[in-house]
Amino acid sequence: MLRSALLAAARSGAVRGLVERTPLTRPVVRRFISGDDVDAAVATTGELLADGRYVTLDHLGEDTRDAAQATATVEAYLDLLRRLELAGHTGRAEVSVKLSAVGQFLPVDGEKTALENARRICAAAGAVGTTVTLDMEDHTTTDSTLGILRELRVDFPWVGAVLQAYLKRTEQDCRDLAHAGSRVRLCKGAYREPAAVAFQDKAEVDLSYVRCLRVLMEGSGYPMVASHDPRLVAIAGELASRRPKSSYEFQMLYGIRPEEQRRLAAEGHRVRVYVPYGDEWYGYFMRRLAERPANVGFFLRSLITT
Ligand code: FDA
Repeated sequence: MLRSALLAAARSGAVRGLVERTPLTRPVVRRFISGDDVDAAVATTGELLADGRYVTLDHLGEDTRDAAQATATVEAYLDLLRRLELAGHTGRAEVSVKLSAVGQFLPVDGEKTALENARRICAAAGAVGTTVTLDMEDHTTTDSTLGILRELRVDFPWVGAVLQAYLKRTEQDCRDLAHAGSRVRLCKGAYREPAAVAFQDKAEVDLSYVRCLRVLMEGSGYPMVASHDPRLVAIAGELASRRPKSSYEFQMLYGIRPEEQRRLAAEGHRVRVYVPYGDEWYGYFMRRLAERPANVGFFLRSLITT
């Protein structure tokens, strides 16, 4: 119930205004978001790399219906990539892109614009020697995102995709993408989805995650295990035990289970932290609250006691 309400609020303009206007929200947001600008993002990246972790950076923003805004997002990624190169970070830091932030939902030529914009970001990433992973949004975008992925990979074969274990289609998508050179970030899924397309029961989602993980680990691609769930992390470790440690990686979100991130890195696993930055934090923040009721308590307590 609470998860559904928070995910509905994540797409409500009225609630957004309310949450954003509350100055006391900020300290809680800071737990999950590195900062408002590229300086903060590069500084956080430097700290994580110095600590032995890898990074993927997300310039926050999504669902834009405005072509100028989509172009501004592309420029922000180009600036970020330049700054990462200047700082010498591109060997272990890449970027994650939401296609809805670069034009996928524009009323006219949305997919075409998103593809062209994503191409510009991929070209800039390739020029500085790093990679791009396409985030996955709600199920209405899955076919479009995988189609754009296929197009991008013709010129940039290292572009990665996210697949969501809560979708019933995903085991097949994993089979399709478990080939050599294919980078797949497997997560549970963070949106509110109907029962017709997605498992609703947590145990069913977890079972699907394990089936998908098995397909990816038995394939010849590069699985990226994106979960904070201790059981799934342990199962991934078992399934990967015959693979070289350089042939897969664990991924977690900035601010979530940092001790576990360090523990896995100390064991010699590659651990990449997903670092969001920027002032469009609302949708991302609400999805993090929805994942864990304890975070809502933490948020409400901070509103009362700060
Ligand atoms: P689950 O939610 O069951 O949590 C397991 C445990 O992890 C919890 O018991 C708690 O200890 C800890 N935990 C989890 N979430 C927490 C939180 N918010 N705060 C504090 N502790 C928490 N989704 C999507 O739909 N599209 C995408 O493109 C991506 N991209 C993505 C990239 C990366 C690198 C990660 C790690 C995740 C995503 N996600 C995503 C989000 C993903 O779908 C999922 O919603 C979250 O990772 C939470 O699911 P878990 O697998 O962590 O398990």
